[in-house]
Amino acid sequence: MFGNLQILPPDPILGVTAAFRRDPSPNKVDLGVGVYRDEFGNTPVPAAVREAERALIAEQSTKVYVGPAGNLEFNERIVELALGSLAAQLKDRTATIQTVGGCGALRMGAELLHAAAPDSVVHVSDPTWANHEPLLGNSGIALQRYPYYEPKTRSVAFDRMLDHLQRLPAGAVVLLHGCCHNPSGVDLSLGQWDAVADVLDQRGLVPFVDLAYQGFGDDIETDAAGLRLLAGRLPTLLLAISCSKNFGLYRERAGAFAIIAEDAATARAIATHQARTGRRMYSMPPDHGAAIAARVLGDAQLRQAWQDEVAAMVARMKKLRALLADRLSARRPDVDFSWLTRQRGMFSLLGLEPAAISALCSEEHVFMPPDGRINLAGVSDANVDRVADSIVRVLGRG
Ligand SMILES: Cc1ncc(COP(=O)(O)O)c(C=O)c1O
Repeated sequence: MFGNLQILPPDPILGVTAAFRRDPSPNKVDLGVGVYRDEFGNTPVPAAVREAERALIAEQSTKVYVGPAGNLEFNERIVELALGSLAAQLKDRTATIQTVGGCGALRMGAELLHAAAPDSVVHVSDPTWANHEPLLGNSGIALQRYPYYEPKTRSVAFDRMLDHLQRLPAGAVVLLHGCCHNPSGVDLSLGQWDAVADVLDQRGLVPFVDLAYQGFGDDIETDAAGLRLLAGRLPTLLLAISCSKNFGLYRERAGAFAIIAEDAATARAIATHQARTGRRMYSMPPDHGAAIAARVLGDAQLRQAWQDEVAAMVARMKKLRALLADRLSARRPDVDFSWLTRQRGMFSLLGLEPAAISALCSEEHVFMPPDGRINLAGVSDANVDRVADSIVRVLGRG
């Protein structure tokens, strides 16, 4: 039955991890994988998350199913984290389902769109996270791209983006990265979010916000400002939330998908479709990660401790951006590397030719996906000079 299947090429991002593991060099550096790392190269579980987990396990008396919508307390708290005080105002118009991480949330959104409006098109940024198109597209929904990143200025191609959005037909869905754009690290300013909100509103376009890095750009509140601006202004908004990075819950697969609908009756109907979609794909979401996140958010002390830990992670990433920019500038004062410190989150695009990226991996043992996306959290005090030397050696190749 399966004999005609051919071996597939490796996933563009997961394949980097495999290549890194195979490389015997003692000096190899992994800038590929999309997880936070501390100065020792570990991806820690925040202490507040551990504490919530311990308490949860001590108290848990049953493992019965949670129900298709998942942990309702989690759903409420995670949406409140994203929307802030707006959450209460929009509560009746919001339908939320717990999902299998942020990927599950994106896919849930695509499935619902495809079921409710099979002709809709989701417009994703160019470039976007390598898994967006396969993940959403596999639901059957059509995808197109809108201009987002300007390699020359290493900033948002805002005029082109806005011009493109202005030409989209009513009902088109626009996928926006809530913060810490993956892979470019380039985010919209609040003024730009405002202009995007105007166009979405005037043209009858529907925002689908992917919030996978809340807290990783500046802080929990600042990173959600664009999303909140849209949620306060537009009749309908789709929201995919991941708890993988900011809660360090990667493998627990905690996330949520919410739709803010035009009115409460529509939201109630959507909730039944969310539950049915989940039931037909995997029945019920896993409990553990969401229960931990709900506990952290519901306990003032744990919540503060967790926020402080996220703040420390962000401070480290900003420090690493400055450090790498500094070491690169010291080697090549004629080249501008200040963009590294202007960008946000874990990722930036090196903007090198494919031959240079390939040389970084094969000759310099510095690993990253073929698009040249680097994870700054893979840089450390110990390897920054080595990384800077390597980048400088391949500059201009191509
Ligand atoms: C932009 C973006 N969206 C969504 C996700 C989904 O994360 P997860 O499914 O691990 O929660 C990621 C993870 O890397 C991401 O980078």
